[in-house]
Amino acid sequence: MPNTLTITDNRTGKSYELPIENNTIRSLDLRKIKVNEDDFGLMPYDPSLMNTASVVSKITFIDGDKGILLYRGYPIEQLAEQSWSFLEVAYLLINGELPPTGDALASFQEDVKKHMFVHENIKKFMNGFRYDAHPMAIFMSTMGALSTFYPDTRKIFDPEIRRLQMWRILGKAPTLAGYACRHREGLPYIYPDMEMTYTGNFLNMMFQRTEKKYHPHPVIEKAMSILFILHADHEQNCSTNVMRSIGSSHVDPYSAVAGATAALWGPLHGGANEAVIHMLKEIGNVKNIPDFIKGVKEGKRKLMGFGHRVYKNYDPRAKIIKQLTQEVFEVTGANPKMEIAMELEKIALNDEYFISRKLYPNVDFYSGLIYEMMGFALEFYPVLFAIPRVAGWLAQWEEHVLDAEQKITRPRQIYLGHERRDYVPRKERKG
Ligand code: CMC
Repeated sequence: MPNTLTITDNRTGKSYELPIENNTIRSLDLRKIKVNEDDFGLMPYDPSLMNTASVVSKITFIDGDKGILLYRGYPIEQLAEQSWSFLEVAYLLINGELPPTGDALASFQEDVKKHMFVHENIKKFMNGFRYDAHPMAIFMSTMGALSTFYPDTRKIFDPEIRRLQMWRILGKAPTLAGYACRHREGLPYIYPDMEMTYTGNFLNMMFQRTEKKYHPHPVIEKAMSILFILHADHEQNCSTNVMRSIGSSHVDPYSAVAGATAALWGPLHGGANEAVIHMLKEIGNVKNIPDFIKGVKEGKRKLMGFGHRVYKNYDPRAKIIKQLTQEVFEVTGANPKMEIAMELEKIALNDEYFISRKLYPNVDFYSGLIYEMMGFALEFYPVLFAIPRVAGWLAQWEEHVLDAEQKITRPRQIYLGHERRDYVPRKERKG
């Protein structure tokens, strides 16, 4: 059986045989399908890239129908249960393998941790933001501003310089986040503590008050690491596509991460964790759920934290986070909104509207309930998504810029506007 696709153009009666590789055809092969020599050739039209593979990747695999998520082949459940080290998972995403025994992980950790400090001028820069600026906006802007501190960063094809920027971005992401939070709360900035774990240090920069040495509760520190691992990558989602697209112009990675952060912030993407809590607050009581669900089914609003472009089954990350709520709430006390969330899930999973559209809880449905009990401000939740996702963005960015087949991203359009027409002087215009 030939691995090809035969297309007959009924406009001309001509047939074309296109090769099929990895279950895909090449869009450019369609260009030879023409009515005549002057014809541009056929293009696929795919708004929102619903059915277009734009990259070849070896990083993350999702089977949305079966609810499977693998980082470099390893199931997310195993990484969450057995690793507990965000930097080990970051190493895996970036290098393709788990760190071998010996000092590979320790030396990677040192590479990242020694770059956790930021230039003192960043503090001045941050002080320019209004007291109530959204922390995601502060994080995004200061991430972009970091490119001004490292002029070498544009040399993205120098492997040493490229990797140095990657360690810097991984190291500085929690520091920028910590500063953004402190700025908002009017608290002094806390310097990174290299002796702590990546997540322990992050919690320290967020929550240290007057104690000489802050020690996060081990259950909370472990939960934070698991949450970071779950958010570290998710193949070609909106923000990763932005990271690759910006990176394709060969700009520096700080600018690309800032752009990817902007994409992540929207309520349809990583901003959903914040939106879920707003929604649960608005519902307020389980007795108000039927009315709320009625509004959702009438198309008046969305059930935030539900649905996914790729998962048409329970998001495996949501399953792990739901279990994690129990461990965390044993330490922090239960989140009173959990009852509303569970009831919403129960109703949605049994309701024809949600069943027929294959709408299940996604990663953002339960995460905010944990963040709230850990003591994070509501506006900070998208930042908690962004910090770990930096690892995935960087892995995907490096894969992209090193892929010989990739060029600057430049989609085509179907132009349905005016044909060429002449300029009309202002006094001659009608209407
Ligand atoms: N609540 C109610 N209806 C929904 C929802 C929802 N959350 N999500 C999708 N639908 C309906 C939608 O109205 C449409 O119905 P119909 O066929 O009658 O027009 C149908 O389901 C298909 O939806 P879609 O908009 O075509 O799906 P999509 O793949 O374009 O959107 C999504 C995916 C995640 C943007 C969407 O499900 C959504 O807006 N969810 C809420 C926001 C959210 O939780 N986002 C976080 C995503 S997971 C974290 C991440 O990786 O970003």
